[in-house]
Amino acid sequence: MKIDNNNHFIFSGHDTVELAKKFGTPLYVLSEDIIRKNAIKIIKAFEKENVDFQIIYAGKALLNIAMCYIIKDLNMGLDVVSGGELYTAKKASFPMEKIYFHGNNKSKEELNMAIDLGVGRIVVDSEYELELLNHLCIEKNKKASVLFRINPGIEAHTHKYIQTGQEDSKFGISIKQAKNFIEKARNMQGIIIKGLHCHIGSQILEEYPYKIAAKIMMDLIKELKIKYKLVIEELNLGGGFGIEYLKGDSCFSVEKIVNEILKTIQDQSLKYQVKIPKIIIEPGRYVVGNAGITLYEIGAIKSIPGIRKYVSVNGGMVDNPRTALYDAKYHAVIANKVNEKEKELVSISGKCCESGDMLIWDIPLPVCEPGDILAVLATGAYNYSMASNYNRIPKPPMILLKGSKAEIIVKGETYEDIIRNDKIPTWLLE
Ligand code: LLP
Repeated sequence: MKIDNNNHFIFSGHDTVELAKKFGTPLYVLSEDIIRKNAIKIIKAFEKENVDFQIIYAGKALLNIAMCYIIKDLNMGLDVVSGGELYTAKKASFPMEKIYFHGNNKSKEELNMAIDLGVGRIVVDSEYELELLNHLCIEKNKKASVLFRINPGIEAHTHKYIQTGQEDSKFGISIKQAKNFIEKARNMQGIIIKGLHCHIGSQILEEYPYKIAAKIMMDLIKELKIKYKLVIEELNLGGGFGIEYLKGDSCFSVEKIVNEILKTIQDQSLKYQVKIPKIIIEPGRYVVGNAGITLYEIGAIKSIPGIRKYVSVNGGMVDNPRTALYDAKYHAVIANKVNEKEKELVSISGKCCESGDMLIWDIPLPVCEPGDILAVLATGAYNYSMASNYNRIPKPPMILLKGSKAEIIVKGETYEDIIRNDKIPTWLLE
């Protein structure tokens, strides 16, 4: 952590106290330099190995037009899960052939949009979707290149709301039903089978669940070859690489994970005599998580003797619902006085009308005063993308830092934005 002579927190070369003064609070701050560093780390880990690969960024972690430009510039693909994310990519002139369209219940309109725009891959999640997609393609006299999302039936050790690969899940096609499913798709006129996909969860900090998933998928690839002479060209192993939220959280090394995954795949391919497919991964959190911080201003401070000191900030679960939702843990500093001898244990609360609206429980901080700037760290992933307007609170702006530059990439909402879509029914006007 960088601190300057004034005891101010420096993030990606910028004095965060100055940023708060210039752009106001709450403020999402995103560093392009850190995003690039994270992405390049993954790309380099693959380049070291001798495989055909593609890294795609999972837009659900944080997507806006500026993000699409950065991802495009890094030559990465993009994973979208809704018409809204796809529309954002289109508006950013993102190359459609590098888009992977996910989701367990894509609507007819969304599938039509994807076919018309020519997205690279549609990741089919169910039989219903397979039939619908085939039907829409035949109608348009087009073909869709697809991956099948397979549920490998393994549990990664992470919060139960963000586990996705276990057998009892709303996502994907059960591994047990996969062969019959794929056999059916082979005979469909509108479908081109390109490969398989799986995703075992998020904020995963160990390599072994990936190795197990890779092995299960390679087993399926072998069986498809033997049974149907079907060659699987692409294997997408999903996202989920974890990041360090609290000091000492992780002994995660992207090089190690990539190396172990590829070793498993290479071993299996030799053993089974199948060609190594193109390997795709789709990290979200790893790319943007530590590239973002959120700046707040401290307001009301309330001490309940012998129990707890609540320090309230001018945001909360509206801009970061992860603590309320997943009991997520964050580190924070007082940006205008990072290192002080005297510290006190406090809890950081938001401004919403809800007891669960907490950002951090029990964190030692220098003695807080109204007007201090609180910086919550590692908020780049699943904060802005999951923000709401609860209590009709406008969403904060987002700025992007690059070198010494800082510019707004998402304007803050106004009260006018809050009421923009409200309509008064005729009978209340009579
Ligand atoms: N691919 C698929 C198919 C996914 O479902 C996800 C995340 C990813 C990739 C990217 O995962 P990542 O690399 O970011 O872990 N809202 C939760 C996380 C939900 C993740 C959903 N799927 C949170 O705030 O922790």
